[in-house]
Amino acid sequence: MSLDEARPEAQRLAEQLRHHSFLYHIEARPEITDDEYDSIFRRLQAIEAAYPELCTSDSPTQRVGAEPQDKFETVAHTAPMLSLDSTQEADEVRRFDERMRKALGEGHGPVYVLEPKLDGASIELVYEQGVLTRAVTRGNGREGELVTANLRTIPSVPLRLRTHDRPAPALVALRGEVLMYISDFQDFNAGRVKSGEDPYASPRNTAAGSVRQLDPRVTASTKLDVLVYDVLAVEGETFRSDTEGVEAIRQWGFKLPERIEVAGSVEEILEYHAAFAAQRDQLDYEIDGIVIKLDDLSMRSAVGATSHHPRWALAVKFEPRQEITRIDRIDINVGRTGVLTPVAILRPVVVGGVTVSRASLHNREELKRKDLREGDTVRIQRAGDVIPQVVEVVTHEEQRQPPFEMPEQCPACATPVYEEGPRTKCPNRFACPAQLQGWIEHFGARSALDIEGLGEETAALFVREGLVGSLAELFDLKPEDLVRHEGFAEKSAHALVEAIQSKKTPDLARFLIALGIPEVGVTVARDLALHFGGIEAIRLATVEQLEAVDGIGPKMSETITTFLAEARNSAAIDAILERGVEPVGPEPLPDELPDAGAAVFTGALPVPRAAAEVAWRRVGGRTVSSVSKKTDYVVAGDNAGSKLEKAERLGVTVLDFDAFVEKVRALGGEVDLP
Ligand code: IVH
Repeated sequence: MSLDEARPEAQRLAEQLRHHSFLYHIEARPEITDDEYDSIFRRLQAIEAAYPELCTSDSPTQRVGAEPQDKFETVAHTAPMLSLDSTQEADEVRRFDERMRKALGEGHGPVYVLEPKLDGASIELVYEQGVLTRAVTRGNGREGELVTANLRTIPSVPLRLRTHDRPAPALVALRGEVLMYISDFQDFNAGRVKSGEDPYASPRNTAAGSVRQLDPRVTASTKLDVLVYDVLAVEGETFRSDTEGVEAIRQWGFKLPERIEVAGSVEEILEYHAAFAAQRDQLDYEIDGIVIKLDDLSMRSAVGATSHHPRWALAVKFEPRQEITRIDRIDINVGRTGVLTPVAILRPVVVGGVTVSRASLHNREELKRKDLREGDTVRIQRAGDVIPQVVEVVTHEEQRQPPFEMPEQCPACATPVYEEGPRTKCPNRFACPAQLQGWIEHFGARSALDIEGLGEETAALFVREGLVGSLAELFDLKPEDLVRHEGFAEKSAHALVEAIQSKKTPDLARFLIALGIPEVGVTVARDLALHFGGIEAIRLATVEQLEAVDGIGPKMSETITTFLAEARNSAAIDAILERGVEPVGPEPLPDELPDAGAAVFTGALPVPRAAAEVAWRRVGGRTVSSVSKKTDYVVAGDNAGSKLEKAERLGVTVLDFDAFVEKVRALGGEVDLP
């Protein structure tokens, strides 16, 4: 076949595949078998292999195959992805309706669009000239993570808009929700449990986690769906109402939430709400309420929005799901920090598609307040998603168990416990096996070193079998040490050891998180890494030096230095570093530069504050926290307040962000823009 013959053939096959994929994934009425589909798919693949120039990015063959990434790029949304105001009260719905009527004036009875509120992960999909060019997570609503390669693997996301009934606009940004069906979630979890991994908490967490996988093949391996309900922005076409937008979304070949309806009165809204609440348990996906939106887009503009949510929409949530079950037992869990947490071991019960078999009872005081005892029949609930709670005792046996008492000794190491406020703690920080297990789990957790395969069960095994006596010893493990143990075969033992060894040059911020320094979460870790550049500099930093980091106050710096200075903590860190672990900081700051001046950063900048400060220090600048006559520059972002005023009063040069970027460039530096 020549290129001239191959071109129309490839186009024809691609079009067939798109059509059949639409029939299968969107309309659920396939016209050909999977085998027939695969055979067309392979023909197209063969042609594209022979003529790579025919293989465009929106070809149906190009859903999987992108390389894993190191991290996601952060990008701005086409239009802000606002949140929703929400209520559980019918009266609030009435007041909302009154507000709308008042705002619209006489003679404009509002028309509302009603939809289920899907409990998934929010996503922006951007199509330029009809082709999918970007998929962005909601993030903070203004910017999110660029996860295009992952969304491409989801079959119900068109790589190219369907244009049979409506042409593609120059640009359209759509908003939808990534979902995992409850049945797929249950299969997925059953698979995890079988291979010795911890089950995931909820379909929504799993979907959100899958969308944020750095390797698109992992996303492709979970079954996800995307339902689209909103036009965020469009160029080259105008819609007058939500209904028109929804119709266009349908014609462009997307899946929409079921039962999108219009209503004109509070009664209709409440009826719709009640109907969905009743139907909720029969659905194969989670919804947590309904959404009411004004249909007319010009009326929406008239009503406006706050920075957080539009005034023209309201979510009406359902009551949290509740079930009755029995507390079989109360266990004590000892965490990394030595806190003893009572946990109710429940007779397993399905709450909205998720099996609940345990619930944290938090602490001594909480337990006493609710007077929960072993053997009691209790009401439990799961609000929104995840964390199950015990609400109250419903009935109990005549011969009730005595009130539950916290143990006097740590159940893991028998050391006498002590009380700290409502909490009960084990003081045996360096030798309690339960605390060590907690440390190991934390060390390997996703936000820390992200060690694949090092979860709760593996950590428990390591401690129980005496394989690991400290964090540092994780790096001494050899496959031979593992194969003898339950749950490990040759292959999985090698994989885990390799996963651990592969983290020997961790990102500094992640390493700081892994160390479990009190107060050091994701943000503080990132700021410390940017500010100090290396682990030794952080270990040597004085309280004053730590306080110089924006966002770190006296109390926090005290806690951090105390932790790092403690002999045994310090020895534990030394031991890890002696294993050849070398945390990699951001590029070190050059020394010996001419002084570029003292700057104060204030207000909301488009980049993390620490990134701006580091850029400034790289060109020889200094950063200070308060404005005085000695300050050379005040870099003011959005909503800058008193510092900006003071700068103006004192006649200090004020730079907006763009001017700051220019200044840094003029000095030979660069600000890493998002
Ligand atoms: S409308 C500005 N409609 O709920 C209004 N949101 O709690 C745009 N959500 O993150 C949102 N189903 O992603 C709308 N039918 C629906 C929805 C929905 C789920 C999500 C949305 C947002 C969250 C707000």
